[in-house]
Amino acid sequence: MASHPTILVFDSGLGGLTVLREVVRARPDARYVYVGDDAFFPYGQRSEDAVIGRVVPLMGELLDAHAPDLVVIACNTASTMTLAPLRARYDVPFVGTVPAIKPACASSKTKRVSVLGTSGTVRLEYTRALIRDFAGGCDVKLVGSVHLASLAEAALGGAEVSDEAIRAEIAPCFVAGDGSRTDTIVLACTHYPLLLDRLVRLAPWPVDWIDPAPAIARRVVTLLGTASGHGDAPGVAMVFTSGRSHRLSPTISPYFSGHILA
Ligand code: DGL
Repeated sequence: MASHPTILVFDSGLGGLTVLREVVRARPDARYVYVGDDAFFPYGQRSEDAVIGRVVPLMGELLDAHAPDLVVIACNTASTMTLAPLRARYDVPFVGTVPAIKPACASSKTKRVSVLGTSGTVRLEYTRALIRDFAGGCDVKLVGSVHLASLAEAALGGAEVSDEAIRAEIAPCFVAGDGSRTDTIVLACTHYPLLLDRLVRLAPWPVDWIDPAPAIARRVVTLLGTASGHGDAPGVAMVFTSGRSHRLSPTISPYFSGHILA
């Protein structure tokens, strides 16, 4: 393995930054290429066939251009829809982001868990199979959000996003009845942790919000090994399919751990 392995982190937009942040912490010595397919955002509103038809050939171009040692699909919608065809077509190791239903159900005390994802992710058989296999006696509610990823993009871009708009998207996750209520919510879209402070503040009662990013970083370390411990941190190159250049705005900079190339 190269002393500074190249890791390509892929999402439909800025949500993958929440995963990139954790992976950079785990492997600060790696080179990073962050790709946001913002020209096709939001994936969650598209059909499975459309996302596969977009991501599989695009990944071929990205592999040719950047020759990564490993690819992180930092998007639940893209992972649940395209991981199988990507792995069938390309040899590079892919680490996916899939709804963290197993750990959420294992840790819930009230046995009421909600899975908050894009409407694309929650309607997939892949996600429903995770519930069948790993709910472990929990009552799991799937909540497909139409707007939350776009609200997160807007907020990160510095736009005003109202509390009411966020509250409306998360309200169906909170279920109470028969003396118990939801105590755990799976953040099944990588955009949502961008809004975590507001989700916590706007929740009608406290819950555990499960962000898969630390588990993804651990998986990367399992596949690539721990940091080599020598040399400077090479940084992050940013690629957006819309062609827009990215300014390091104060809202975005915390997600890069200080290493930016472009
Ligand atoms: N970040 C993507 C995910 O994790 C969703 C955003 C979109 O709809 O494109 O599912």
